[in-house]
Amino acid sequence: MTRAHIAEPADVSSHEARDIVVAGVRAGRAVKPIAVERYTRTAMVLHWLLALAIVGQIAFGWYLQSVPRKTPDRTIYVNYHKSTGIIIGLLIFARLAWRLTHKPPPLPASMPSWERRAAHANHVLLYVCMIVMPLAGYIASNFSKFGVKFFNRITFPPWGIDDQAVYAFFNGLHVATSYLFVALIALHIAAAIKHALVPRHGILRRMLPL
Ligand code: HEM
Ligand code: HEM
Repeated sequence: MTRAHIAEPADVSSHEARDIVVAGVRAGRAVKPIAVERYTRTAMVLHWLLALAIVGQIAFGWYLQSVPRKTPDRTIYVNYHKSTGIIIGLLIFARLAWRLTHKPPPLPASMPSWERRAAHANHVLLYVCMIVMPLAGYIASNFSKFGVKFFNRITFPPWGIDDQAVYAFFNGLHVATSYLFVALIALHIAAAIKHALVPRHGILRRMLPL
């Protein structure tokens, strides 16, 4: 299989210079090379930075479950989780704003259409979870008397009332969405691994700066 790297081709029109990887499509016994457009550097940086931050935040959320409730330690850890969650949430909204103004490269036409539709659905749902997770957590916190103590230093007094039912709804949404999020991420990684093992369409390299 041929895999070359051609920097900044003149025929690619986009907001930023994109580059192209050459993947191969099987044509009978031969492998026919095809050009696959890559994501821009900004898209890659935002993707990998947030992927790391989100996986870390999920692990932190799970760790929280092992910290005994109604203890000073729990308050400290929960406030750290809320603080990193708010920062990640702001980064997510910045990424979303950037993404809405920058078109991603189209998936190669050589990919089966069901796979292209599945990838699109997976990405849309990942964005939905990326929005719901920090928002639900933040709203829940504001319907509890605790609010948010940013990095255990600055108190953000809650703007909502102390209401158990509203808190339970948004906290329940936060927890339930985390399971959907993990399932979608697992599917997303499995698809990326499949494309790395059978690299016919150059999918993984579209998101890698190598
Ligand atoms: C928390 C973890 C992750 C999240 C939330 C996430 C989210 C996303 C989203 C939303 C897109 C679509 C980008 C767009 O077109 O706007 C995307 C693309 C992509 N992601 Fe991830 N991702 C995560 C982790 C990973 C990991 C670990 C891998 C590799 C093993 C990976 C590989 C890719 C690839 C290759 C693409 C480009 C797919 C294409 O060519 O269309 N992602 N990711
Ligand atoms: C992208 C951002 C976030 C992610 C991925 C995330 C993820 C998680 C996860 C996986 C859990 C454990 C759920 C469980 O299995 O019970 C959790 C719990 C929690 N999160 Fe987040 N979180 C995020 C942002 C936030 C924010 C912004 C806040 C509040 C300002 C927050 C507040 C909480 C609280 C209070 C819990 C404990 C819930 C309980 O045990 O009753 N999270 N989070």
